Amino acid sequence: MARLLPLFLFLSIFAAGSVAAAGEDSLIRQVVDAASSVGALDDLILNADAHFTSFLRTFGKNYSGSDEHAHRFKVFKANLRRARMFQKLDPSAVHGITKFSDLTPAEFRRKYLGIRQNRRSLSAVHDAPILPTSNLPSDFDWRDHGAVTGVKDQGSCGSCWSFSAAAALEGANFLATGNLISLSEQQMVDCDHMCDDSEPDACDSGCSGGLMTTAFEYLLKSGGLEAENEYPYTGTDRGGCKFDKTKVAASVSNFSVVSIDEDQIAANLVKHGPLAVAINAIFMQTYIGGVSCPYICSKHQDHGVLVVGYGSAGYAPIRFKEKPYWIIKNSWGENWGEQGYYKICKGHNICGVESVVSTVTATEIALRS
Ligand SMILES: *[C@@H]1O[C@H](CO)[C@@H](O)[C@H](O)[C@H]1NC(C)=O
Ligand SMILES: *[C@@H]1O[C@H](CO)[C@@H](O)[C@H](O)[C@H]1NC(C)=O
Repeated sequence: MARLLPLFLFLSIFAAGSVAAAGEDSLIRQVVDAASSVGALDDLILNADAHFTSFLRTFGKNYSGSDEHAHRFKVFKANLRRARMFQKLDPSAVHGITKFSDLTPAEFRRKYLGIRQNRRSLSAVHDAPILPTSNLPSDFDWRDHGAVTGVKDQGSCGSCWSFSAAAALEGANFLATGNLISLSEQQMVDCDHMCDDSEPDACDSGCSGGLMTTAFEYLLKSGGLEAENEYPYTGTDRGGCKFDKTKVAASVSNFSVVSIDEDQIAANLVKHGPLAVAINAIFMQTYIGGVSCPYICSKHQDHGVLVVGYGSAGYAPIRFKEKPYWIIKNSWGENWGEQGYYKICKGHNICGVESVVSTVTATEIALRS
């Protein structure tokens, strides 16, 4: 089996989307021995040339000129070394080559993240009431109940906050109306310039970042969100606001902030639908699959995502046996992570994932007309 490990890793790296398709078994084999994963990364580093060529082909990369090509190859090699370091720090996940392997960490942050850091006082935001937690299911996934749209792609624009907010409202609207409607991120990118009461200079600002709770506030004030197909995503914030109130497809009735407690988060998830959360995304640049549970990770949130469920026992090395995890929908397309999804261990506020959690409720259809 040990001889097969590099092969599994190789397959998963060059067809990141196939991790889930390949089945959990191969993934279990990949992660049972973290040392082997690190070994496979050593191999990638030794053969960086060939892997770069294959990376360019796989992700259709095209650089202007040989200087740029040489620069990107240097960055790629540095990212292979980072992936090896992350693999050691995060042995229950698999790290390697991703579509972001030719970006420096600073470029990655600037182009693909975009959450403003946790506000000290979310003065206008209610705390969610404490819910009973005694009868929570041990495993839960809103994808099994029809509340989650397909994975979207924010492109090279720091609009993650709008994807997180729209996805939370898609789920809430499904719970309120029974209809799953893909909603418009672009409307928030173009029209939501809402500022946080406690920090008037920090406003939702298109591709330059924003925050889900201020986006919910905008949605309360504006009347709601149009459907994705009415107001489609362009990935730029220079188009100007084209919101048409008569086309609203889903409205926010209320939203609140969930306390930092894994059981309260789970209870709110089960009761109110998928939750908008902020996370530190440093380990996500090299993430291929498995349950991410790094020994060290900053709690400074820089990315907005959606918790859609949780599992009780992640496949993991022996010492992580029975490790529970959150199932996270990301907005970097299906060719990232586990078909667009990320798993992170639950209950330790790893990478700050449990400290900025908000729940939204949608207007019921009966109340609408
Ligand atoms: C790469 O870019 C150049 C210049 O823009 C273009 O002529 C060429 O067709 C592109 N190649 C691919 C494979 O996209
Ligand atoms: C909104 O939710 C909060 C927390 O659950 C609650 O205290 C508040 O009364 C709600 N507001 C409305 C208008 O329903």
